[in-house]
Parts: sequence; C-alpha cells; structure tokens
Amino acid sequence: MKHKVTVVGAGNVGATAAQRLAEKDLCEVVLVDIVPGVAQGKALDLTQAAPIEKHDSRITGTNGYEATAGSDIVIITAGIPRKPGMSRDDLLSTNAGIMKKVTRQVARLSPQAVIIVVSNPLDAMCHVAYESSGFPKNRVIGMAGILDSARFRAFIAMELNVSVENTHAFVLGGHGDTMVPLPRYSTVAGIPITELMPQHRIEALVERTRKGGAEIVELLNTSAYYAPASAAVEMAESILKDKKKILPCAAYLEGEYGIRDLFIGVPVKLGAGGVEQIITITLTEEEKTALNQSAAAVRELKQALKKLKY
Ligand code: NAI
Ligand code: 2OP
Repeated sequence: MKHKVTVVGAGNVGATAAQRLAEKDLCEVVLVDIVPGVAQGKALDLTQAAPIEKHDSRITGTNGYEATAGSDIVIITAGIPRKPGMSRDDLLSTNAGIMKKVTRQVARLSPQAVIIVVSNPLDAMCHVAYESSGFPKNRVIGMAGILDSARFRAFIAMELNVSVENTHAFVLGGHGDTMVPLPRYSTVAGIPITELMPQHRIEALVERTRKGGAEIVELLNTSAYYAPASAAVEMAESILKDKKKILPCAAYLEGEYGIRDLFIGVPVKLGAGGVEQIITITLTEEEKTALNQSAAAVRELKQALKKLKY
C-alpha cells in the first residue's frame, strides 16, 4: 500500500511540493486549501500530467479534511507569504491562527502522522503546531535548514565552478536574519570551503545565504517556492523511506546545544519515527554565540506568540 502525504496549502510551495512528491512516485497525495476549487483544480492538473511524467501517484484536492485521514506525513504550507519589505516575523499573527486551526484538524484525523511545518515565521509556527497537535516532539519538524543550506550550496558551487552534487553545507539556527551558516562544516568533495576560498568570499556567500529569501522576494514579489518545496520533499522522502538522512531541520530542543524548550535548526537524523536523533556537533565560541543570538530571536517570537490571541 502506498504511503499517504497530505499537503495543506495548495499555493506556490504546497502545489510544487505535491508535484515533486507525485513525480517521485513516493506516495498518494492529498492537497488541501481553504479556497474553493484551488486544491481540486491543481490536483486534477497534476493528475493529467501523470501519464506524461510516468507515475501512478493518486492526487486528490479538497477543502475538507476527511480525505487526509490516516496520513503518514502532513506538510503544512498554509498561510500568507512575504511581500517585499516584510520580514518572516511580520506573518506571525495571521499564520499562527491558520496553523492552529489546520494542526487541530490534521492531528484529529492522522494521529500517527509526522508534521512538517513550512509556514513562516518557521520556528514560531513549529511551536504552534507542537502545542495544537499534542504530538510528541519527534513528530513535529520545521523545514528551513535544508533550504538555507541548499542556497549556501548553490552559491558555493557557483563560486568554485563545481558540481552542486559535490557540495555539503550546514546552516543552523532560526529561519531568519540570525541564521547561522557554518563554513567549517561546509565542504566540497569533503574539503572544507575554508581551504578553498578566501575569507572575504566566504563572508560574501554567508551574507547572500542569510538574505537568500529576501533576494527572491524582491524579484518575485512573493516568496520562493521551488527550493522550499524540494526541501520539504527531501524531509518527507527520508521519513517515508526510513533513510535516516542527517539534515538540518527545526527540532524541539531540551538542553541540546544549551538551548531548552525551543524549536530551532540543528542537524537531525530523519527516519520513520520523524526526528530520531538530534546530532550535537562541536561549535567554536563564535559559532556558539551566533547560535545563542539566533535562539534569543526565536525565543522573542515565542514570547510574542503568548501575548497574541490567535
Ligand atoms: P501561497 O500564498 O502561494 O499559498 C498559501 C496557501 O495557503 C494559499 O493557497 C491559501 O489559500 C492557503 N491557505 C490559507 N489559509 C488556509 C487554511 N486555513 N487552510 C488551508 N489553506 C489555507 O504561499 P506560499 O508561497 O506557498 O507560502 C506558504 C507559506 O510558506 C508562507 O507562510 C511562506 O512564508 C512560507 N515559506 C516558508 C519557507 C521556509 O523555508 N520555511 C520557504 C517558503 C515559504
Ligand atoms: C524563504 O526563505 C520566505 O522563508 C522563505 O524563501
């Protein structure tokens, strides 16, 4: 029997994620949106592409939740995206309300699912999903680090004129301006980039990575979706196939890295159980300070959430 993955929010990220899931023939896909017709129309369009793309994934579009019952994974992209001049944090109030409603529905009908949160502000939305679902911490995971690391990897490959396949990168911390790209752990064919390019170029790529989301918002007038969808699907694939990939994701920390009761980006092992392990890597004093600053920014948003009625 095929796995079932629900994608809530049939907008740019959600529909692209549904397309990638189906084309990889990973699972049955249920696409949910609040706007009548949108999820149904996109599901039908994707279904009609299937004979050409050569996959047999069933794709259903709906405005309700009945068809989502028994999902193995629920990817939540519902919410509003950024417009130019807006930070991810500006979305807090609206998206918290949406996240709460959506999570309650999916948790009720898919009590064993792993939830992958995509909506922004990412780390804060993970808290809303965690609290509203009542799921254990290993089954609520945020997508951000893979995207930020993929941006860093793309910039490294462009800079050195090498294959992206040779690159690895780690971006930890919150999904915001305080994110923490780690050049020491970023490699090309296993060689740290600190040995392959001068410090000033590394700093330029780090800065471009930190502003990677905003760069696209300025160009598109809305936020990125191809790379975000790919990142969410990489997480889903690792879980569905129990691949146990080590990937940077927002996970709930209870003392790891000296951080407690907070979702933030760290390397995790993703398998059938969701987050199966949080990998603790050694950080320099400078990197620790940067991660703590990022955690402080996420904690501020978590506090702001408490004051909101959503
Ligand atoms: P979009 O506007 O294209 O799609 C959002 C969809 O959610 C819309 O179709 C809307 O009708 C739907 N929606 C709104 N309320 C809903 C509800 N209560 N139930 C079901 N569906 C609902 O936006 P896009 O570009 O797909 O982005 C979605 C979210 O993902 C945004 O919050 C964005 O900031 C975030 N994002 C996060 C990334 C990350 O790295 N974590 C990367 C890219 C986007
Ligand atoms: C991004 O990084 C806006 O979070 C979204 O593209």
